[in-house]
Amino acid sequence: MPLLGFGTWQLRGHRGYEAARYALATGYRHLDTATMYRNEAEVGRAVRDSGVPREEVFITTKLPPEYAGAERRCLTQSLTNLGTDYVDLWLIHWPPSGRARPEIWKQMLALRDEGLTRAVGVSNYSIGQIDELTGTTGETPVVNQIPWSPALYAPATVAAHRERGVVVEGYSPFKRSDLRDPVLVEIAHRHQATVAQVVLRWHIQHEIVVIPKSATPARISENFDISGFTLTGDEMRRIDALGHD
Ligand SMILES: NC(=O)c1ccc[n+]([C@@H]2O[C@H](COP(=O)([O-])OP(=O)(O)OC[C@H]3O[C@@H](n4cnc5c(N)ncnc54)[C@H](OP(=O)(O)O)[C@@H]3O)[C@@H](O)[C@H]2O)c1
Repeated sequence: MPLLGFGTWQLRGHRGYEAARYALATGYRHLDTATMYRNEAEVGRAVRDSGVPREEVFITTKLPPEYAGAERRCLTQSLTNLGTDYVDLWLIHWPPSGRARPEIWKQMLALRDEGLTRAVGVSNYSIGQIDELTGTTGETPVVNQIPWSPALYAPATVAAHRERGVVVEGYSPFKRSDLRDPVLVEIAHRHQATVAQVVLRWHIQHEIVVIPKSATPARISENFDISGFTLTGDEMRRIDALGHD
């Protein structure tokens, strides 16, 4: 799973297709969509038209909790929309009514065993809810997609996921950040980078998957262009300190 992916929430229609095409042309090989985003068809068409082989693109989509009991119908519809035989990762989008609901997890595991998705995971689940799924089925979600940013940095949360072998995938890296924060601005200036690039680089150096969204070609490129600098240990700690716990 590439640590850097492209988020597609609110990218629909022609704009969504163009953004996903641009992202693939830029070099992104990981796209994050969801049934709820109503853009799987655009994302799938962008992958096909890009000329990048399907197996080189990591595609995540998500099950809306209201499809409980109709998991198969939801996933087969996602595959039809995307125009692919399998997705790389299928997540339950959030805990239905705030509950873990292991019976949904069992259905997701069965569909994975049939090969319709390579892996299954969760989103917006607590550690307690993840433990409930593991306790009931013996299988732990491989990923938990949760809001993440310097302001949300919580080392205990990372440790709890890692102890269980769950990959932390952060979402909304910019919406949850103050891009004018003086610490971030100073560090960005020092590396001749943008604050957005520093935020993404910080995720990658913590080995936290990050999926920035942009509809703007210049920003799609900027967000991908983060391998030209490295944050020092001291800079990482100063950014960590922007977290509240
Ligand atoms: N599992 C969940 O419940 C959940 C919830 C939310 C999001 N997600 C996923 O996570 C992805 C990312 O989160 P998000 O879309 O909420 O927010 P985000 O990626 O944090 O922020 C997107 C916003 O930041 C702007 N932006 C992008 N690049 C920028 C840059 N270099 N400098 C300044 N501004 C920049 C975008 O503007 P322009 O587009 O105008 O360039 C857009 O307004 C989503 O697209 C979705 O795939 C998952």
